[in-house]
Amino acid sequence: MKILVVGSGGREHAIIKALKKSPEAEKIYCLPGNGGIAQDAQCVNIGAKDIDGIVKFAADNAIDFAVVAPDDPLALGCVDALENAGIPAFGPSKAAARIEASKVFSKNLMEKYGIPTASCKIFTNQEDALEYLKSAPIPIVIKADGLALGKGVIIAQTREEANAAVIDMMENKVFGDSGSRVVIEEFLEGPEVSVLAFTDGKVLKPMVSSMDHKRALDHDQGLNTGGMGTIAPNPFYTEDVAKRCMEEIFLPTIKAMQAEGCPFKGCLYFGLMITKNGPKVIEYNCRFGDPETQVVLPLLKSDLLSIFQACRNETLENCEVEFDDGAACCVVMASNGYPQKYETGFPITLAPDTDLVTTYVAGAKINEKGELVTGGGRVLGVTARGKCLHCAVKNAYEAVEKTSFANAYYRKDIGQKALNKEA
Ligand code: AMP
Ligand code: GLY
Repeated sequence: MKILVVGSGGREHAIIKALKKSPEAEKIYCLPGNGGIAQDAQCVNIGAKDIDGIVKFAADNAIDFAVVAPDDPLALGCVDALENAGIPAFGPSKAAARIEASKVFSKNLMEKYGIPTASCKIFTNQEDALEYLKSAPIPIVIKADGLALGKGVIIAQTREEANAAVIDMMENKVFGDSGSRVVIEEFLEGPEVSVLAFTDGKVLKPMVSSMDHKRALDHDQGLNTGGMGTIAPNPFYTEDVAKRCMEEIFLPTIKAMQAEGCPFKGCLYFGLMITKNGPKVIEYNCRFGDPETQVVLPLLKSDLLSIFQACRNETLENCEVEFDDGAACCVVMASNGYPQKYETGFPITLAPDTDLVTTYVAGAKINEKGELVTGGGRVLGVTARGKCLHCAVKNAYEAVEKTSFANAYYRKDIGQKALNKEA
């Protein structure tokens, strides 16, 4: 089969490496891909938001199956466009992608179907929002309605910060139209868990749980980033929590999307907080998480391509989805200065891939001399598996020592919170 993967990050590299193991996968293209992905797939310089370009490429190259990984093309209707052109595709429709693309949609959905989440109020008018903030409890959370590159969430510790966030979003339009509606929500506390789940719209099969480390610096200090590292499984996701999530959150969400006339097919990402009143949804994403995918897929024992096809063909019930009992840890190596200013163009030395270690490349390109050089904020993720979480973390940091580029920065404490919980 000829397969096409849309996207260009470490997540897409992990998806491609997993797809390559499938006996059915003859040729894999990645649009646009990156310098590291080019080792594993043929990269073609068509942007992930160029829906017409993607469909034309797929048709011209007789693609048998497409996988759309990032949120932007999903929200733009890339899967609908591919399917309309006769190309089978994995991922939610534009209507189903609203579960991530519009926080107003997802909050209304959870309220209507009784799915546990932070209580909230939705505002389309700045004065009303500021009036509400005069007496709202503090801390409080302000969210832009639309996609904002993961930066549209402000946890305000004071009333002034909350007011400023509303004015930034609604008046100064720092997130463009994404901020024309805002959600103001209750501040929740507790450990966070990410659960990615395969679903064909009717049946849902969760993957192994994971934990992201979003802040730039050790001990969860510094700015929010796209994610500096992950571990799987997440020890806060106990059997009891998993059972409650299935009954109170996962299945009700799938049924709610069906009832709304937009069944969700693809990978649904549940961002959960385990509060003292039980698990609650912090956010839904309509796609694989990055860098969660980089620890979840290396633990998948079943054939990813068959699962993708089963989600698309609505036959997931009969499809095997099995995970290894071990653990995995991914340490993201970034350009020093990320998520703000940083330099690029430095040659990269990768740790050799082994049975336990794999590097997933995100922000890197091939220079005119044919060398792999840094080209972005998050440059790569080094993933290692191990029999236990402790072994996986140790193996990952050993491989990080063998990886180098000028100005490399990485967190030294990926997995510590999870190991402390286990201890
Ligand atoms: P997001 O960009 O939606 O993933 O949110 C970024 C982070 O903000 C989440 O990972 C949580 O740590 C935090 N967050 C979002 N909503 C809330 C909430 N209602 N209460 C506490 N923390 C939150
Ligand atoms: N790691 C968080 C996300 O993919 O949104």
